[in-house]
Amino acid sequence: MEKLRYGVMGTGRIVDRFVSAVRTSSEGEIYAICSRTEESARKKASELHITTWYGSYEELVKDPMVDVVYVPTINFMHKEHALLALAHGKHVVVEKPMTLTHEDTKELFEEAEKRGRFIMEAQKSLFLPVTAKVKEWLEEGRIGKLNLMEYDIFVPDVSFQWFYHRDMGGGALLGSGNYIFSHALYLEKSDLTELKGQAVLGDEVDLQCTFLMKFEDEVLASCKISTLAKGESRCVLYGTEGKIYIKDFWKAREAELIDRSGESEKIEFPEPFEMFYEVDHINACIRQGILHSPVMDKEMSLSCARYTDLLYEDYYR
Ligand SMILES: NC(=O)c1ccc[n+]([C@@H]2O[C@H](COP(=O)([O-])OP(=O)(O)OC[C@H]3O[C@@H](n4cnc5c(N)ncnc54)[C@H](OP(=O)(O)O)[C@@H]3O)[C@@H](O)[C@H]2O)c1
Repeated sequence: MEKLRYGVMGTGRIVDRFVSAVRTSSEGEIYAICSRTEESARKKASELHITTWYGSYEELVKDPMVDVVYVPTINFMHKEHALLALAHGKHVVVEKPMTLTHEDTKELFEEAEKRGRFIMEAQKSLFLPVTAKVKEWLEEGRIGKLNLMEYDIFVPDVSFQWFYHRDMGGGALLGSGNYIFSHALYLEKSDLTELKGQAVLGDEVDLQCTFLMKFEDEVLASCKISTLAKGESRCVLYGTEGKIYIKDFWKAREAELIDRSGESEKIEFPEPFEMFYEVDHINACIRQGILHSPVMDKEMSLSCARYTDLLYEDYYR
């Protein structure tokens, strides 16, 4: 069977890793890349050994050879670029956050449904073998009843300028919030009942933020994202009889369980291109002709967007 041909929009930092992930996947291949200028398209294509390149996004989506468009452009352009790809009949994978608001995310899903095309927000953490194992530990009751989740993300010294502009979709919450929301919602199945947050704002955006989530079955999640401090990014899940520690949970290659007897069990999955598990999932969904991922599904993306909207009301009031 022919592989699914990916077209990549833009030449941003994340592109190299996604290209390697598609090339590691069994059913995908990188077919083309585009940029707003011919020069940067040609340069990136040469660096990544991509034979087809375009100096505009329009040319990429018009190429009938492209099956799937990957949208890793800056946050505020995701919606426009995803709509452009859908208008030309492409399946679409949109980097997180899918759009800047719940309303826009809903609109993107509706447009993809209308056109009968697959759409998913990229969220690699849900497809990692570490996450699957952690979920299994929780379901087996290895830490008793889960009661407390702690999420810490530290991204000090952010150097790219659009991060500091609110209208471009910058800020700590839009940068990393969906990693936390989707991971917590994936592991904790009861409904979220309360969400409260606080932030430290710079000239335009939240430079660090905290939020507390309370779930129906009395689980609390305490969450921090900071660009102003250095620390250890991690998720710790505490239960009545033990805990699970996951370093860099959104790109985790290892985790540790300390169970009721104090025994430790460690797991390791040293895959260099951790996005490839997600790409394999996307390929399988498209092959099956389904329009949404059953894992990073429409509800998950809409929830992430709704929680961001709600926290923004707290942060920017
Ligand atoms: N899933 C993950 O693990 C992960 C990790 C990092 C980032 N991300 C996401 O990936 C996306 C890109 O992040 P990045 O760090 O790669 O960003 P970046 O390096 O700043 O690149 C973004 C690209 O967007 C394109 N672009 C289109 N319209 C633009 C405009 N009006 N102004 C500036 N650039 C424009 C540019 O490509 P051309 O100049 O070539 O057109 C630029 O290179 C973000 O949404 C981010 O949240 C995801």
